[in-house]
Amino acid sequence: MVLMKVIIFCVFSSIFTSVHCKVALSEQKIADIFNSIDKKEPKDVTKNDDFTTTVATIDDDKIDDEKTVQEITNNSIEDDTKENKTKNDETHKSVNQTCKGTDNSEVEDSKGYNEKACTNETENLTALILTPFIERGQLQEARNASRVDPQFFLGVESYSGYFTVNKTYNSNLFFWYFPVEDKPVNKTPWIIWLQGGPGASSMTGLFDEIGPFKVDATFNLKKSQYSWLQNHSLVFFDNPVGTGFSFTEDSKGYTRDMTTYSSHLYTAFQQFLQVFPELRTAPLYVAGESYAGKYVPSLGVEIHKRMNKPSGDVNLQGFMIGNAYVDPAVILQLPRPFYHFGLLGMEQMDMLKPLVEALAQEIAANNSIVAKTKWMNLISLLLVLTHQTHAYNFLHNELMLGRYVSYLNKPEIQKAIHVRNTKFSFVNMTVNAHLALDFLSSGQGHFETLLEHYRVLAYCGQLDLMMPCVTTSENYRTWKWNGTDKFIKAPRLPYMYKNKRAGYHKTGGGLTEVVFLGAGHMVPLDIPGPAKDLITRWTHNEKLSVRFPLLEGTFIGDFIKNNSMLPYL
Ligand SMILES: *[C@@H]1O[C@H](CO)[C@@H](O)[C@H](O)[C@H]1NC(C)=O
Ligand SMILES: *[C@@H]1O[C@H](CO)[C@@H](O)[C@H](O)[C@H]1NC(C)=O
Ligand SMILES: *[C@@H]1O[C@H](CO)[C@@H](O)[C@H](O)[C@H]1NC(C)=O
Ligand SMILES: *[C@@H]1O[C@H](CO)[C@@H](O)[C@H](O)[C@H]1NC(C)=O
Ligand SMILES: *[C@@H]1O[C@H](CO)[C@@H](O)[C@H](O)[C@H]1NC(C)=O
Ligand SMILES: *[C@@H]1O[C@H](CO)[C@@H](O)[C@H](O)[C@H]1NC(C)=O
Ligand SMILES: *[C@@H]1O[C@H](CO)[C@@H](O)[C@H](O)[C@H]1NC(C)=O
Ligand SMILES: *[C@@H]1O[C@H](CO)[C@@H](O)[C@H](O)[C@H]1NC(C)=O
Ligand SMILES: *[C@@H]1O[C@H](CO)[C@@H](O)[C@H](O)[C@H]1NC(C)=O
Ligand SMILES: *[C@@H]1O[C@H](CO)[C@@H](O)[C@H](O)[C@H]1NC(C)=O
Ligand SMILES: *[C@@H]1O[C@H](CO)[C@@H](O)[C@H](O)[C@H]1NC(C)=O
Ligand SMILES: *[C@@H]1O[C@H](CO)[C@@H](O)[C@H](O)[C@H]1NC(C)=O
Repeated sequence: MVLMKVIIFCVFSSIFTSVHCKVALSEQKIADIFNSIDKKEPKDVTKNDDFTTTVATIDDDKIDDEKTVQEITNNSIEDDTKENKTKNDETHKSVNQTCKGTDNSEVEDSKGYNEKACTNETENLTALILTPFIERGQLQEARNASRVDPQFFLGVESYSGYFTVNKTYNSNLFFWYFPVEDKPVNKTPWIIWLQGGPGASSMTGLFDEIGPFKVDATFNLKKSQYSWLQNHSLVFFDNPVGTGFSFTEDSKGYTRDMTTYSSHLYTAFQQFLQVFPELRTAPLYVAGESYAGKYVPSLGVEIHKRMNKPSGDVNLQGFMIGNAYVDPAVILQLPRPFYHFGLLGMEQMDMLKPLVEALAQEIAANNSIVAKTKWMNLISLLLVLTHQTHAYNFLHNELMLGRYVSYLNKPEIQKAIHVRNTKFSFVNMTVNAHLALDFLSSGQGHFETLLEHYRVLAYCGQLDLMMPCVTTSENYRTWKWNGTDKFIKAPRLPYMYKNKRAGYHKTGGGLTEVVFLGAGHMVPLDIPGPAKDLITRWTHNEKLSVRFPLLEGTFIGDFIKNNSMLPYL
């Protein structure tokens, strides 16, 4: 789900007219909120432009600024992931991207100034749309045009541009492709990354999670030590249209349902493969977090339907989802982790019951829009009650996220990656609001189909309250495919990273479930080392961790059945 902070700000700015929502609440005040929310008729956000534009303009900038100054709190597993220890920093120097007059916060540097990259605010940038090249059969031209000058990005080779996904509305999806370095592209696994939200840009995945570089405190690029690019080619799509750099030129072009984003994603995917056909033979994994728990299987099923057809043939191997929203079954369980982690008391749980019951009714009646509003209200209340600023990692007060946003708003950077002039934002709330109808749709059926043919890795950061491990994993145990029994019967084993316990994993019938310790909603952000290690093992069909013979066989089961005593107790 989208950064809850954004939503919290929105909800709160109307209730408290407090921008930062750091409110100390009396019991009376809390009771007032309950009453006002109970009485409030949720608006049909897709039909109300006022609402969507208000929401869309609220404090995106403030939020990002605030986040960037925060430090990640200490965590034992992260010891070796601290930025200081990044050895790569000094080995790659980027061209200095400071342009004259574009950003007052930066000192001009005549040595570093790069004429070609620099542009000015008034220059009109045009979107590089590859679709016309493809239609004319000019595939090499499309590829050449989309090549990004590596000088601006620490020497990293990449390609970017747009694919038209609906001509009627001039809807275009943005992609940014990084071929694997120093390995054969046609044999090395590749990953398509889709951010959640809905409406969150996949540039978060690129710059804050798995991509080759990050933006540092002085708004310069630096290499990321734990990029998944080391062992995979990576493709980031901004999806659905309107998200990030993707755009539509008609308000009717926004996506409202699964059918539409499935079709848009596949349309972009098949155009992408025409321009970069060497990837057809490389093992393909489609990955994403949060709301992408629906996008990932949607694209998956579209690809699957066309496998073994001449133009559809790819080496599809599997899917990865992190703290994913796959099925609405998890929605009602929202307060449970708050209670079980000791953040809420039993009386508070009782107090919340009527709201949970009201939400249950909307879900049962399949009222997506109302259910979404009530669910958001419930999260807001849980955060107020527990005095938290977001629901992504209950040990961190702030998320170190989104520093890259101002970087991507530099005209010279937008020019370098072939986008039109865009007021780039972390999340597009217009897109988010239009997908309200999709809130109660489910990706479960898709996964049940896909698991009969491909592998699925469902990983989870243990500290997330939004899509917590306990409720998502309960949902996975309701999935029915021909490997269900194998999965249920498989042992759950510790996952070790550098000789330390970093989580747990369970694999059977094509499904691998992983819980990462010390991570929240965005696992690669919080624990980049373990995340990269485990997914690389998984995409390369290597065993995930050292062996635990005692836990793997039937010994423990027999032992418990026998009601034996451990010899050393
Ligand atoms: C992190 O840990 C170090 C050493 O263990 C300590 O000096 C520092 O104050 C801690 N920082 C935070 C933010 O807790
Ligand atoms: C990183 O390096 C700086 C300067 O060398 C030092 O002040 C800081 O404490 C280091 N941070 C960590 C997390 O090691
Ligand atoms: C880029 O500019 C900054 C600020 O002017 C300067 O400190 C740095 O040395 C420059 N880097 C390069 C590679 O020229
Ligand atoms: C940019 O586009 C606007 C609107 O189409 C136009 O008025 C302006 O002259 C253009 N500027 C340049 C430098 O082409
Ligand atoms: C910016 O670009 C426009 C159009 O190319 C040009 O007219 C203007 O002089 C430029 N401004 C600066 C400060 O370079
Ligand atoms: C594409 O770029 C390559 C290398 O720069 C060049 O050799 C080739 O002629 C270009 N092809 C087309 C069709 O532009
Ligand atoms: C564009 O979207 C409209 C509305 O969803 C749909 O009717 C039309 O078929 C789409 N066109 C294409 C080419 O997909
Ligand atoms: C990942 O890439 C690194 C660096 O090239 C290499 O040392 C390592 O063996 C690769 N891992 C796998 C699983 O291929
Ligand atoms: C959301 O996307 C639409 C369409 O691309 C755009 O007009 C709007 O400015 C975007 N809003 C934000 C906050 O980025
Ligand atoms: C729920 O509503 C959506 C449209 O709002 C519809 O497509 C879907 O079929 C409905 N599901 C059920 C189970 O009725
Ligand atoms: C599950 O079914 C698919 C075909 O639908 C088959 O290819 C696959 O081998 C089956 N898997 C198991 C574990 O039986
Ligand atoms: C459980 O009991 C059976 C039968 O008494 C015995 O053979 C077996 O070794 C026992 N297993 C364990 C793990 O205690």
